[in-house]
Amino acid sequence: MKKFFLDLGSQPLANNYLHKFNNNQVRYNLKLYFDTKTKLVSISKRIPSKIMFNNRYPYRSSISKTMTHSFKKLSNDIKKKFNPKFLLEIGSNDGVLLKNFDKNKVIGVEPCRNLANITSKLGYKTYNKFWNLQTSKKIKKKYKQIDLVYSANTITHISNLKEVFKAITNVLSDEGILIIEDPSLLDCLKKNSYDQFYNEHIYVFSSIALRNILNKFNLEIFDIKRLDIHGGSLRYFIKRKKNKLLKIKQTVSEQIKKEIFFGLNKFRVYKKFGENSLKSKNRLIKIFSKIKDKNKTIIGYGATAKATTILNYCKIGANFIDYFVDTTPDKQNKYMPGSKIKILKYHNKLINKTDYIFLGAWNFKKEIFNKEKKFLNRGGKFITHIPIPKII
Ligand code: TYD
Repeated sequence: MKKFFLDLGSQPLANNYLHKFNNNQVRYNLKLYFDTKTKLVSISKRIPSKIMFNNRYPYRSSISKTMTHSFKKLSNDIKKKFNPKFLLEIGSNDGVLLKNFDKNKVIGVEPCRNLANITSKLGYKTYNKFWNLQTSKKIKKKYKQIDLVYSANTITHISNLKEVFKAITNVLSDEGILIIEDPSLLDCLKKNSYDQFYNEHIYVFSSIALRNILNKFNLEIFDIKRLDIHGGSLRYFIKRKKNKLLKIKQTVSEQIKKEIFFGLNKFRVYKKFGENSLKSKNRLIKIFSKIKDKNKTIIGYGATAKATTILNYCKIGANFIDYFVDTTPDKQNKYMPGSKIKILKYHNKLINKTDYIFLGAWNFKKEIFNKEKKFLNRGGKFITHIPIPKII
């Protein structure tokens, strides 16, 4: 049974950055549910994939040093540990991972044409397709079997999980390995980061829920690695149950134990998260109002999809934030979805003019604080809502 635990209000499509402010942007109701049987957390309203992942998708994985570094390290680990003959990446974005491999040994699947074009131009075979049974059949016909399938921050974006895993098992060799990584539900609840939820994040996985899903496809997790990226993610190493060559590591039972200890299998924990999110909203509004009462200026840093959830849930608009700065070219000179706040190209001159900065990309806090030492040294302050709204 699916039980409701948080209403994040009427939201525009995250990543729908518009050139002109439009009061009539498509909106949907963002409500969160916990399935008491499967333990899966999901949003209620599903926006068709074709609307979300189009030819103008702005998100670029290689825009941050943290991400580029993380993918490079992962590529080295994959080569060392598994030495795959052939790798398939589902949701290859702008090739941040593919680029670290030999062109003849990898292929990507990427539904956003603007992104697929980037890797195709670099010489990496990229299927400009959604990941589904049809695509997997096409790939299987050409490449037979694949011994490593990798997917970061993509599986949770696809509504039909049954088809996702059916399509994966269709191409994966008997001894093949599936590696997926996505934001961790445990981190999300611990940090009270309700902004992990928006139309693209249909699910936020716990290991408990993922294990239940994989079980249906005779797949099992044999190792888990926690990563700091995206506010705390889990990288799951998965194999077919019948593959006895790989032993299940203790990291799996340890992660599941931690999740059970926190109560991720119990509805009451989600109910509490819902209550805490409402408290967080009220506290954040208070902080913004107090700063504005003193006639100080606030700008936003990192025009993230997460920030769109926050701004629209808390009803924080151009009355509070003068503009956002972001390094992503496709977001610049556009408006934050659902608000009149403009996104400007990052320039340190803009940083040096303001009193306060709202940390939209709080998950890159370390990288940003390092970059903005000058702002901090002259007494500039950051505002964050993680884990509770505060000024830093
Ligand atoms: P991310 O947190 O990955 O996004 P989302 O919530 O949309 O999944 O995106 C980080 C955003 O922050 C991205 O638009 C780039 C921007 N950014 C900067 O502008 N400057 C920086 O120094 C960093 C690290 C990120």
